[in-house]
Amino acid sequence: MESDAPLGNPCHSTAGKDNSDRVRMVRQIFAAITGKYDFLNHLLSLRRDISWRRFTVDKMEFFNTRRLLDVATGTCDLAIEGAVRYPHIHVTGIDFVREMLERGFEKVQQRGLSSRIDLVHGDALHLPFPDGSFDVAAMAFGIRNIPHRMRALSELRRVVVPGGQILILELTLPQGPRFRIFYRIYLKGLIPLLARVLSPDPGAYQYLGESIMNFPTTWEFQGMMGDAGLVNVEAYALTYGISHMFAGHKPKGPATGPSSSTDVAF
Ligand SMILES: C[S@@+](CC[C@H](N)C(=O)[O-])C[C@H]1O[C@@H](n2cnc3c(N)ncnc32)[C@H](O)[C@@H]1O
Repeated sequence: MESDAPLGNPCHSTAGKDNSDRVRMVRQIFAAITGKYDFLNHLLSLRRDISWRRFTVDKMEFFNTRRLLDVATGTCDLAIEGAVRYPHIHVTGIDFVREMLERGFEKVQQRGLSSRIDLVHGDALHLPFPDGSFDVAAMAFGIRNIPHRMRALSELRRVVVPGGQILILELTLPQGPRFRIFYRIYLKGLIPLLARVLSPDPGAYQYLGESIMNFPTTWEFQGMMGDAGLVNVEAYALTYGISHMFAGHKPKGPATGPSSSTDVAF
């Protein structure tokens, strides 16, 4: 797409698209914005994305395989953060957009982590790993882009060991009504404006706002994690709820414990 594409470009709107069209659109968007992805991510979140990933990594528990899977790894920020924070683990990152993985691979090499992080080109819906391969399976800002969320959650559950963790970091709409209004203006007005100036594919940032507004509520998503067979599901609200980290465990035995919600100040 040309950089002077009109705002509200219908080719990057999810309206009226079926799931396979959406998946194709998601692949196109991330292949097009790879070069500017990290820069725009940090700018548009005012570098909060870095703290949110760090929070997610701090919650990880390695106790058996000492392996972390980062699904929808993109340019590998979560994978790198995990490898640096836990020097005794091995990390695998998987993504279905080659351009994102290539950029991630460069970053892994620059950090001297090639022997501890391997990257796989593949789909979150068909993870090419045997059951119980990892202690932790995590996804940062990926699940929003996957129409078949239950299928993705059950794949994550399958590949962790019993007692293993599933950690999902995602952008969400804040709960407070006033802040929510302000945030909607930011998503619908300011982000497309900034993207028009800075992004090679401004339409992608129309999609960004739309995908956040269409994401299930915190309670709904916690419920989905429970329906996917995860237990002790918790949701941590980050930065007034513009992001949440959802954590659940694959049961060791029979399911236990209700879901809960926690506010975390960042
Ligand atoms: C917003 S980026 C997040 C990248 C990275 N996790 C981060 O923290 O910045 C979303 C990524 O999800 C990937 N993705 C979306 N759907 C996927 C799927 N079904 N299988 C694998 N990767 C997928 C995209 O290719 C893209 O790299």
